[in-house]
Amino acid sequence: MNRICQMLGIRYPILLGGMAHVSRAPLVAAVSEAGGLGVIGSGGMPPDLLVTQIAEVREKTNCPFGVNLMLMDPDIDEQVEIVIRERVPMVTTGAGNPAKYIDRLKEAGIKVFPVVPAVSLAQRMERSGADGVIAEGTESGGHVGEVTTIVLVPQVVDAISIPVIAAGGIGDGRGLAAAIVLGAEGVQMGTRFLVSAEAPVHDNFKEAVLKANGRATIVTGRSIGAPVRTLANKLSKQFARYEHEGRPREEFEALAVGGLRRAVYDGDTESGSLMAGQISGLITEVKPVGTIIAEMVETARNLLPEGAL
Ligand SMILES: Cc1cc2nc3c(=O)[nH]c(=O)nc-3n(C[C@H](O)[C@H](O)[C@H](O)COP(=O)(O)O)c2cc1C
Repeated sequence: MNRICQMLGIRYPILLGGMAHVSRAPLVAAVSEAGGLGVIGSGGMPPDLLVTQIAEVREKTNCPFGVNLMLMDPDIDEQVEIVIRERVPMVTTGAGNPAKYIDRLKEAGIKVFPVVPAVSLAQRMERSGADGVIAEGTESGGHVGEVTTIVLVPQVVDAISIPVIAAGGIGDGRGLAAAIVLGAEGVQMGTRFLVSAEAPVHDNFKEAVLKANGRATIVTGRSIGAPVRTLANKLSKQFARYEHEGRPREEFEALAVGGLRRAVYDGDTESGSLMAGQISGLITEVKPVGTIIAEMVETARNLLPEGAL
C-alpha cells in the first residue's frame, strides 16, 4: 500500500490544497468522503471559526481530514493550539518554515506535511521531523516558488526519504500518473477542486477559471518577496504596475487586503484576487468532487503499472 494512504488512513493519495476562504467544511468533507484527504484552509480564519469548521467537518464525515496553517497568519499561535487541542489528524503548512511548531504537533500525534518550493527546505523539514513534504511547483495557484513541478518533484524525491506529495499543475489522472512516475506518492490539487460543485466559491470565479486558457495567469509580488499566481484582471494589472514602479510593500499590502474574499464571496472578477494555477486551461467543466477523484484514479491506474496506485 502507498505510504501516504497508510499514514493518513485514506483510500487515494489525493489531497485538497488548504485554500484560504475556499477549503471550507463542505468541500473538505466531500474530498475526504470521496477517498482523498480534505484539508481546511485556515489562512485568514479567526480562531473561533476554525473551531467551528473542524466541528462541521466532523459532523459531515468520519473520514480523516487536515488543516492548512498559513505561517504568516497573525493568529498562527492560536491556530496551532486549536489543531493540537482538537486532535486534528494532520496539518499542512504554507508560507515559510514551520520547524518551531513541528515537535509539539508531533507530540500530539498530528502528521505534519510542510509545503516546500525548493529542495533545501525539503531537507530541512525532514531533519526537523516532518512526516512528508508537499513539493509545490510554480504552476500553482496562490503563493508560489520559482521551480516547476516536473523539475522540483524528482529532485526532492532524490534528496529525502520521507514521502513526497506533488502539487502544482495537476488537474486529472494524467497529472496524477505523471507525479507517481516522478517518484511522488500522492498529489495535492487546488485549482481543480476550486471548480468543483461542492466548492463554496462564487460562480463568477468558477466561470473565470473555466474560461481561462493556460496563459491566463500572472505572477505578481516578486519584487516584495511574495509572489502570487492569479488569473490576470484589473487588480493583477494594478499590482504589475506597482511592481514596475517599485512601490513599497505597504502599498502592495493595502491593495491586496480582502482580495481573495472579494473573489470567493462576492464574485468580483475585476478587483478580486482570482488565485488559480496554469492548469486552469485544462479545466472546462464544474464537476462533483466524487467524479473528479474517481475519474483521476481510473485514468491513472490505466496508465501506471499494476500496483503503482
Ligand atoms: C484560491 C487559492 C487559495 C490558496 N490558498 C492557500 C493557502 O491558504 N495555504 C496554502 O498552503 N496553499 C494555498 N493555495 C495553494 C493550494 O493549496 C495548492 O497547493 C495549489 O493550488 C496547487 O496547485 P494547483 O492550483 O495547480 O492545483 C491556494 C491556492 C488557490 C488556488
